[in-house]
Amino acid sequence: MSKIIAILNQKGGAGKTTLATNLARALQLNGNQVLLVDSDPQGSSRDWNAASDAGLLPVVGLDRPTLAKDIQALIENRDFLIIDGAPQIAELAVAAIKCADVILIPVQPSPYDIWACDDLVEIIKARQEVTDGKPKAAFVISRVIKNTKLSKEIGEALEGYGLPVFKSFTSQRVVYPQSAAIGSTVLDVEAATEAATEIKAIMQELKEFL
Ligand SMILES: Nc1ncnc2c1ncn2[C@@H]1O[C@H](COP(=O)(O)OP(=O)(O)O)[C@@H](O)[C@H]1O
Ligand SMILES: [Mg+2]
Repeated sequence: MSKIIAILNQKGGAGKTTLATNLARALQLNGNQVLLVDSDPQGSSRDWNAASDAGLLPVVGLDRPTLAKDIQALIENRDFLIIDGAPQIAELAVAAIKCADVILIPVQPSPYDIWACDDLVEIIKARQEVTDGKPKAAFVISRVIKNTKLSKEIGEALEGYGLPVFKSFTSQRVVYPQSAAIGSTVLDVEAATEAATEIKAIMQELKEFL
């Protein structure tokens, strides 16, 4: 059965494209047929793909509110479709919420970023209520600064939303933008072992969450 994973957060810079590209690649290297669906009209995932010589992954753009319908034509023979979300909470995000099995919300460990998830969480919960809980949704903390403990306040602020928070997270590391610049991922560049380990941990946690 194909699974649609939507990476959503209306805030730009939350880490959606970074998580979408790296997670898609991790799933592919794990033996899955994966399609990356770029729903951001800015086309970051498509730019990422164009920057790569080899073209690691198939990437398609679906940046119209008909996304939920259009994606159905692409599901066949895929294990995972990863939707890289658009930076607003308009029709596009609603369409992604409609068709997703799981929503991952990358969020930086700052109160302003956490508060900015308010509308998104509300829309997800409204959807879950009419569908018996689909899509499942969880936060994935992104860009954690090394040697800083996540403060209790951050954990509590996230828990206030009543959605699970993944134990695995990404740290702030230059190898994320460095690898993206050449259309690659932390799983493909040398000297990115620690980053690769955190992406694989997120993939593993996602598989358990499904
Ligand atoms: N874990 C990380 N460490 C360092 N830089 C990161 C990390 N995650 C994202 N970035 C950088 O932050 C910027 C915003 O991330 P991006 O994934 O494009 O967010 P979004 O798609 O939500 O706008 C990009 O320049 C990206 O390379
Ligand atoms: Mg993006």
